Amino acid sequence: MDNRQVLVVNGGKRIEGELEVHGAKNSALPLLSAAVLAHGESILHNCPRLTDVDAACRILTCLGCRCSRSGSTVCVDATNVSGSEIPENLMREMRSSIVFLGAVLGRTGRCRLSFPGGCELGARPIDLHVSALRQMGAVITEEHGYLSCSAPSGLKGARITLSFPSVGATENILLAAATANGVTEIHNAAREPEICDLAEYLTKCGAKISGAGDGVIVIEGTERLEPSEHSVIPDRIVAGTYLCAAAITRGELILTHCEPSHMTAFIQVLEAMGCRTYAYGGGKLFISCKKQLSAPPTIRTMPYPGFPTDIQSLFTALCATAEGTSVFVETIFENRFRHAAELMRLGAQIKVEGRVAIVEGVKSLSGAKLCAAELRGGAALVTAALAAEGTSEISGLCYIDRGYESIESALRSVGADIRRV
Ligand code: EPZ
Repeated sequence: MDNRQVLVVNGGKRIEGELEVHGAKNSALPLLSAAVLAHGESILHNCPRLTDVDAACRILTCLGCRCSRSGSTVCVDATNVSGSEIPENLMREMRSSIVFLGAVLGRTGRCRLSFPGGCELGARPIDLHVSALRQMGAVITEEHGYLSCSAPSGLKGARITLSFPSVGATENILLAAATANGVTEIHNAAREPEICDLAEYLTKCGAKISGAGDGVIVIEGTERLEPSEHSVIPDRIVAGTYLCAAAITRGELILTHCEPSHMTAFIQVLEAMGCRTYAYGGGKLFISCKKQLSAPPTIRTMPYPGFPTDIQSLFTALCATAEGTSVFVETIFENRFRHAAELMRLGAQIKVEGRVAIVEGVKSLSGAKLCAAELRGGAALVTAALAAEGTSEISGLCYIDRGYESIESALRSVGADIRRV
C-alpha cells in the first residue's frame, strides 16, 4: 500500500448497476481470533480481502498458527498455538486486535499485549474487557503500556453485567467463556449480527452458547473445541456505503450477497429521505433515488439494532445535498465527526457541537482535495465526491483500505468515474 496514492473522482455520474457485498470485516476479525481456540484447521469462507484481515492473519502466525488464503477463503490451522504475545507493532496497526485477548487466554492460559491505545474516534478504553476477564479469574496487570494477563488455574464462569453493550467486550467474554470452567452469563450483551456470527462458529466448534443476539447470553464452558467451517456474514456497513453512493448520485443499484435484515435501521432512514428500496430475498436488495432527497428525522446512533455509528458519516455526506436540515447525535463515540470539516471543503454546510452535528442541505457540492483521517469518514468523503461537480482528490487511502475491498473498482463497476493514482 503506497501512502502517496490518492483517489481521483470526477463527480456527477449516477451510480447504476449491480454490486456484490463482501464479507463483514467486524465479523471476520473475531472469527479469526476464535479459530485460535480450535485444535486443528478451521476454514472461513467469504473472508474479505482487507488490510485489517491481513493484520489479523499476521497475529495468528505470530501465535504459532498457520494461516493461508485462497480467494475469499482463509484457513487457520491452530493445532499448535505456541505463542501468547501479540507484538506491539500489530497492536498499534489495528487496535481491534484486543479481540485476540479472550481467545489466547482461553487457549494458552496467558496473554501479553500492548494497550490498544486510542484511535481516530476517541479514547477507545478497554475497561469493560479487563473487568469482565478479571471476574472470570484472569490476573491482569497493566504496566508500561502493556497488559500482562494470566489464568494459571484456568478461567471460570461468571455472571457479568456490562455497563455498556460493548461489541468487543461481548466478543472477548464469549471467547474466554467458551472453554472456561462453568457457566458464564453476559447481561446487557451487545446484539450486533457479528456477535451472532461468532456464536454460530463457536457452536459449530462444540461450544454451548444460548441467547446470542439477545441482551443475555449464556455460555456453558466445554473442555475442548474442534475446528469447523464457516462463512462470514455480509458486511452491512459496506452495503450501506454503496446504498448511500447510489442515493447521493440519485442513481439505482442492486446489491447482492447482502443481508437486508441487518440493515433495517438505516434502510428506513433512506426511505424517509425519499429513496425506494426492495428486498428480493436471497441476499438481493434494490434501491432507487430518482428524485430530490429530503432531510430525515433526527438520526441518533445507538447499539444494534439501532442506527449504527459506523454508517453515520455516510449519512452526514448524503444529507449534505438533501433538502432541509438534518440533525445527527453521535452517542457511541466522542469524536466521530472529523469528516465534517472535509465535507465542508466540498461546500457542505455542517455545524458540529460535541456529539451533535447539524447539516443544512445545499443544492450541490463542488470538487476539492480531501484527506481521510479514519475508515468510515474516509468512505464518506468518497461518497460525497461522487456527487460533487468537478474533480476531487482523496488521500489517506490506508484508512479506507482497512474496511473496503478496492472501493474504486467496486464503484467504477457501477458507473463512477474514479481511479486510484
Ligand atoms: C466495534 O468496535 C467495531 N469494531 C466498530 O467498528 C464499531 O464502531 C463499534 O463496535 C460499535 O458498533 C470492530 O468490530 C472491530 P464498542 P468496539 O466496544 O468493539 C466504549 C469500524 O469502523 N467502551 O462497542 O471497540 C467505547 O469507548 C469500527 O469498523 C468502553 O467505554 O466498540 C465506545 O464509546 C470503528 N469501555 C463504546 O463503548 C470498553 O471496555 C462502543 O465501543 C469498551 C468500549
